[in-house]
Amino acid sequence: MFSKETYTGRRARLLEAMRATGRDGERGIAVFPGNAEAPQNYRGNDYKFRQESSFLYFWGIDEPGFAAILDLDSGEETVYGNDVDIDDIIWMGPQPSVASKGALAGVDRTAPYTAFHDAVRQARSKGRPVHFLPASRYYNTMMLSGLMECPPENIGRTASVYGTSGTAASLELTRAVISLRLIKEPCEIEEIDKACEIGYLMHTAARQACKPGVREQDIVGRMEGVTISKGWGVSFTTILSQNGETLHNHLHHQIITPGRMLLIDAGAESNTHYASDFTRTLPCSGKFTPKQRDIYDIVADCNELAFQLAAPGIPYREVHLAVAAKMLDGLKSLGLVNGHIDDMVKEGIAGLFMPHGLGHNMGIDVHDMEDLGENLVGYDDDQTRSPQLGLGSLRMARRLRPGHVITDEPGIYFIPALIGKWKAEGTDKGMVNYAAVEKYLDFGGIRLEDDLLVTDDGCRRLGPHRLPISADDVEAAMAGEQ
Ligand code: GLY
Ligand code: MN
Repeated sequence: MFSKETYTGRRARLLEAMRATGRDGERGIAVFPGNAEAPQNYRGNDYKFRQESSFLYFWGIDEPGFAAILDLDSGEETVYGNDVDIDDIIWMGPQPSVASKGALAGVDRTAPYTAFHDAVRQARSKGRPVHFLPASRYYNTMMLSGLMECPPENIGRTASVYGTSGTAASLELTRAVISLRLIKEPCEIEEIDKACEIGYLMHTAARQACKPGVREQDIVGRMEGVTISKGWGVSFTTILSQNGETLHNHLHHQIITPGRMLLIDAGAESNTHYASDFTRTLPCSGKFTPKQRDIYDIVADCNELAFQLAAPGIPYREVHLAVAAKMLDGLKSLGLVNGHIDDMVKEGIAGLFMPHGLGHNMGIDVHDMEDLGENLVGYDDDQTRSPQLGLGSLRMARRLRPGHVITDEPGIYFIPALIGKWKAEGTDKGMVNYAAVEKYLDFGGIRLEDDLLVTDDGCRRLGPHRLPISADDVEAAMAGEQ
């Protein structure tokens, strides 16, 4: 947990932001249900507990069965939770009181969990607005649906609360929370740096284990062991495969084979629940083939370009488009596409090779706050999301500001089904040289990802060490690990 002033400060800023909405005396309450335990199969055999991220951000308590209310009119703060009884002590050992947990977050008022339900019902019966954030877990979705007497699907969508109390998650609260969480505080950056260091060690262990004959799953185990021993665990399900053209490939059954490449996209979650997210693509034999190196160098140049461009004031959407232009220029020099770079960018030709966006926000969640709404989190009010393949998947398009934490993750993939579809449908408008591209149908994919903090005059890569990224440095590291 951070200092109690961290949490009281965050709530004070939230109250301030909410004061800009609604009318005095009529703003109602903001409710924050923490996560409950989630059974894997039966009660008592739960998934490892992970607190709801906004609850964690504002109230700090990292345990199941808590909720909190911030009264937007009086400023009163209450934490709800149950003190342990003798049964709990038998199974879990003695636990600090709810009051002492509240005190660590700077909250004086605590009450049993059932009083949370009573407080929400009472506010509703008085016609006071009840603000809640879109829920992602089913338990909270169903609990809020019952309390708010609205269909579960309304709990995941946002609308203005004023005048429509109880029909959906609060757009006002969601916007206010996003505005705070998007700009990371120094104590958060310290934690993200720690998560990045664990991520560095994970990838180092993976690279050392990547040798012909080894099973992919073995590498996953060694890598995840690093973060389990140093942090909370992985920040998302590990992506590790020689079929890197499948963007989120969670199958690890293959044997490392010379001549192929291994794409590893994995990160750590620190004990305070801050994420890292790195991707490297390794030559399985320790050396890239000339064909692999040509594509690899383009992706590495794109990663570097994004780092050079990311600075306050520039929309990350523009950085994505600059990367698309650089990528197309490189692919053109290899004869895979033809046409004016500007025309190809406009027509979204880069989407055939990079059907995802350049990056996303990162913080307590690896894709930070996407549960609150991808567009609300990643787009300024005057930006609209493109329908184009690739650009349309861009999750962070906003004008960059100091304190933003984002990923820089260009990639080039040869996805046979997508190439076949574009060819059949003429999507490329004559700009793709299919005869050349079809020579890459068994190539796989390359992605290279670093995590960036936007600073006052540019950006810095997060974490005390950077994983080798140039083809030469990757080969040298692997040679030293034989
Ligand atoms: N690292 C996985 C992703 O960004 O989607
Ligand atoms: Mn990522």
